[in-house]
Amino acid sequence: MMIVRGLPLLCLCFWSSQSLYRVPLKMMSGKLDSSVLLELSALQRNRSASGDSGLSLASDPAGNVNFLSMVENLDGDSGRGYYLQMVIGTPGQKLNILVDTGSSNFAVAAAPHPYISSYFNRALSSTYRTSGKSVSVKYTQGDWQGELGSDVITIPQGPNGTIEINIAAILTSDGFFLPGINWQGILGLAYPLLARPDPSVEPFFDSLVKQTGIPDVFSLQMCGAGISASTATNPADGSLIMGGLEPTLYRGSMWYTPVLQEWYYQVEVLKLEVGGRNLNLNCKEYNFDKAIVDSGTTLLRLPVKVFDSVVEAITQMSMIQDFSSGFFSGTKLACWMKGESPWEFFPKISVYLRATNTSQSFCLTILPQLYIQLVADIDGTLNCFRFGISSSKNGLVIGATVMEGFYVAFDRAHKRVGFAVSTCAEKNGVPVAEITGPFLADGVASGCADGLLLQEPLMWVVAYTLMALCTMVLLILIALIVVPCRRRQHEGEITDESSLVRNRIK
Ligand SMILES: *[C@@H]1O[C@H](CO)[C@@H](O)[C@H](O)[C@H]1NC(C)=O
Ligand SMILES: *[C@@H]1O[C@H](CO)[C@@H](O)[C@H](O)[C@H]1NC(C)=O
Ligand SMILES: *[C@@H]1O[C@H](CO)[C@@H](O)[C@H](O)[C@H]1NC(C)=O
Repeated sequence: MMIVRGLPLLCLCFWSSQSLYRVPLKMMSGKLDSSVLLELSALQRNRSASGDSGLSLASDPAGNVNFLSMVENLDGDSGRGYYLQMVIGTPGQKLNILVDTGSSNFAVAAAPHPYISSYFNRALSSTYRTSGKSVSVKYTQGDWQGELGSDVITIPQGPNGTIEINIAAILTSDGFFLPGINWQGILGLAYPLLARPDPSVEPFFDSLVKQTGIPDVFSLQMCGAGISASTATNPADGSLIMGGLEPTLYRGSMWYTPVLQEWYYQVEVLKLEVGGRNLNLNCKEYNFDKAIVDSGTTLLRLPVKVFDSVVEAITQMSMIQDFSSGFFSGTKLACWMKGESPWEFFPKISVYLRATNTSQSFCLTILPQLYIQLVADIDGTLNCFRFGISSSKNGLVIGATVMEGFYVAFDRAHKRVGFAVSTCAEKNGVPVAEITGPFLADGVASGCADGLLLQEPLMWVVAYTLMALCTMVLLILIALIVVPCRRRQHEGEITDESSLVRNRIK
């Protein structure tokens, strides 16, 4: 999930109610008359050629972690999130925990809630310790409050051993747990800077590395591509490999991009192409105000200007003329007769990331099978799809839409994120993601993620005007209600427009 920090603190004070937003799932009849037959056989991969290395073990310097035992330790899908089973407390209580690289707290339900079947009962754990501190997190569409504590956990399909970790015990929440989810907590895998209430609360993975001695790397394979988020009864698999990379989960080489700043997994996007055509925007637009890799975000989210440009390019190339704009804005689904497939009509989308050799880049390409997503099956006669890309006011987010195409390595030890084509990113034998490189990072050798967009004078005027306004309001607030203002700032605020909580398909 995505958290916004570092907003001018004064502004938080009157950023009160955010409008709720739900995606009404309206129907739209298919515009295609003719049945579409994908020529699958022509594109069929020779799988035996690639699966030769079989059960090779990944490199682990200490040699004591068996990555194969962690394969397929996740369940779930992009719509409802991928979760890992963890055993919390003494005696152990089994719970499912959502894997989220866009936040940094381990938080688990600690009180009953109508939408969850179980919760962590602190009273039944002899090893639970409370810190007496409270913690709360606010989302655009929900929030939770609870108590900070610690306890021991084990991960049945994870590294061996018992570790002690910080736990935020969720006591009350609103709009955080939703109907149909099968998880009761969230595992924030980002850096300490995002931890609430402050960075001194050591995140789970930092504790795991310290206490077990595994390498400071984890990798994530999410296999829900093409599985309908609303109808899947048998959730897709995924793997969270803690301590390294498992070679059987990817094909070809792993391409690394530097982590620019260690808070989110912030990366640098250099270029976007739709159907092989460069959007030709200033590269700073792609990183405005940041670009992150977040497993807790369902969609590929693009800054407004980039989003508009992508939609324009797709509309031009998709050969579907009077396509409702409601489809692209996320308010409508597009439906085709069963047996027809819309993918042939849409272009590939490519995202270029800075390589670790900073004068080079590499390119992640997703096929329409990843971003035109089946969400509903109507009466057994229609298949309905949603657009897996949305616009964002707080940065570009490489969410599940893209991540499902790749095996993604969060190599914290080397401050880099790696991508390789995932072994499960194929549909009917056709690969739905590609990775190519290296390319020369011509013309974008300077930082694409440095600061704000200087070529946007209007934005600066707006920013300064707002700042002046904020300052005035702040002066008044300081005089009147210093204390509430401070508390508000301390809690921070998650504008979670992007997250599962918001884009989940019920
Ligand atoms: C797959 O590749 C192997 C060796 O590379 C070859 O022997 C086999 O005939 C191929 N199978 C198909 C279906 O092309
Ligand atoms: C944990 O230990 C067991 C027994 O020694 C072993 O079979 C298993 O592979 C280990 N798991 C991991 C993740 O290293
Ligand atoms: C980085 O890439 C440039 C351009 O391809 C190449 O000339 C240079 O040798 C590379 N540097 C390293 C250290 O590989």
